[in-house]
Amino acid sequence: MCGIVGYVGHRPALDVVLGGLRRMEYRGYDSAGVAVLDGAGALTVERKAGRLANLEAELDAVGRDNFAGTAGMGHTRWATHGAPIDRNSHPHRDTSQRVAIVHNGIIENFAALRAELEADGVEMASDTDSETAAHLVARAYAEGDTKGDFAASVAAVCRRLEGAFTLVVTHADEPDTIVAARRSSPLVVGVGDGEHFVASDVAAFIEHTREAVELGQDQLVVITREGYDVRDFHGDAAQAKPFTVDWDLSAAEKGGHEYFMLKEIEEQPEALANTLRGHFESGRIILDEQRISDQDLRDVDKVFVVACGSAYHSGLVAKYAIEHWTRLPVEVELASEFRYRDPVLDRDTLVVAVSQSGETADTLEAVRHAREQKARVLAVCNTNGAQIPRESDAVLYTHAGPEIGVASTKAFLAQIAANYLVGLALAQARGTKYPDEVAREFAELEAMPAAVQKVLSTVEQTRDLGRRIADSRAVLFLGRHVGFPVALEGALKLKELAYMHAEGFAAGELKHGPIALIEDGLPVVVVMPSPKGRAVLHSKLVSNISEIQARGARTIVIAEEGDETVRPFADELIEVPAVPTLLQPLVSTVPLQVLAAEIARARGYDVDKPRNLAKSVTVE
Ligand code: F6R
Repeated sequence: MCGIVGYVGHRPALDVVLGGLRRMEYRGYDSAGVAVLDGAGALTVERKAGRLANLEAELDAVGRDNFAGTAGMGHTRWATHGAPIDRNSHPHRDTSQRVAIVHNGIIENFAALRAELEADGVEMASDTDSETAAHLVARAYAEGDTKGDFAASVAAVCRRLEGAFTLVVTHADEPDTIVAARRSSPLVVGVGDGEHFVASDVAAFIEHTREAVELGQDQLVVITREGYDVRDFHGDAAQAKPFTVDWDLSAAEKGGHEYFMLKEIEEQPEALANTLRGHFESGRIILDEQRISDQDLRDVDKVFVVACGSAYHSGLVAKYAIEHWTRLPVEVELASEFRYRDPVLDRDTLVVAVSQSGETADTLEAVRHAREQKARVLAVCNTNGAQIPRESDAVLYTHAGPEIGVASTKAFLAQIAANYLVGLALAQARGTKYPDEVAREFAELEAMPAAVQKVLSTVEQTRDLGRRIADSRAVLFLGRHVGFPVALEGALKLKELAYMHAEGFAAGELKHGPIALIEDGLPVVVVMPSPKGRAVLHSKLVSNISEIQARGARTIVIAEEGDETVRPFADELIEVPAVPTLLQPLVSTVPLQVLAAEIARARGYDVDKPRNLAKSVTVE
């Protein structure tokens, strides 16, 4: 959701800001805007509903020369308060048009603030909650204790705002300074040579610098050409955490692929290898920032995995492994449901919060609820320093690199691998697995990048199949055991990318209802277990396939290489390498990702930016 970028330096700000917005397009948005300070007291703003291209066309129409200046900011908005139309797009200005703000998040007390401003005679120009901040900063700068002090004015306004926000503020009287602030919403500073950036995401400035600073909760930063200064909302100096981004521009570019998603599917072996690297040393599993002791892990008597969407499916997969390895009960829960049902939590509960972005509001709220109940929270996250790891007791980073396609692919596989590391760490601490068993499980995980690479070398057949079934009305997905969450994930991918009705079921449930959906020619994807590893389940699933085939379904079977028993029941057979049962999701998910992408392409859709979706869902 909303992307924010601010810049003060020596380059044309408009180019830097538009470049940053382009790199954050993946977050999802429905309008965009920019503001540039010309250094001589002029503040020029342009904003437009729709894609960035609309804004660029408007900038061409009014003349880009009007936007000369080396300080500025930009915003991509995902509408919450007020429709996605020009006047609700950011930046918003105060009545004198000297102050401009861009905002991410929701100002929860905006109604009261708006009423107060209107009572003072301020006429609102938009329907947004955000605009109130522009008027409040202008007022704080014009009068009272903070008069003439830009940073103090922003801090004073932040103290009054309730809810989650990242704010970036410019003032025409201070053309060489940008002030940015955050509470429960992302903000990073980019540190360059004679130039500084603020952004929701390092992708916005990765082209210019990999040196970054992660702002803490309720912190504010003042950037100029010369440096940056971090304070709290009371104006006191504050500590922020510098880091170096461990990927570069090439990771944020398509590299010759038509879509980011197709590139990210191909990057999965590397994402897995990077996620596992460094986590097994001297015969032991090592997690990252581990603020949970081995004794705490020994005391755990129950595990919850909380997450949304694909990350939730990664938790469903992990449940099988963690329960098997540790004998601990594992509950996997949609983060959006978790805190509303009063889950039973205490200090011996381990809550694993899985989130690629680390920003998902539902998951963040679940983390907060768990910590209030004294449970220990371990985040599995792909984004350095995001809010969820920051508010957790420990973090295990997936190193999938930036995922720009909206649909989760490489992050999903990396989440499964990371969740498995958590399971092995628990088994190791609790002694439910001998060290040589932990070492063997880890070695099997380490062999997975090669297995996934093998699947990738054979996906042409799946692409061809995708094109052939692209005009189906619906597709069903069936699986059992770890194949069940894979079926759910396959259905989710197809829904979000191809806008096609798709449902995943546990195959055993078929006869309890879903079999009524089977009709002539309906494609049904079946994720088969191994005939050797899970012989009983395998034969039950073969019966399920024959039942649906008898009722006219077109069966598409994902099966282990050499699985001859299933061949007669498969109208289409997609073979994947034989791997240990618990690791099967890492290979069987890949053809389903390819299938969904190919069907979406054949239907003419942009697979990187599916309609209505945002990459980071920062509202509940
Ligand atoms: C589906 C997808 C979403 C995310 C979900 C959670 O392809 O990408 O379902 O998995 O929104 O996002 P994170 O992992 O960022 O919390």
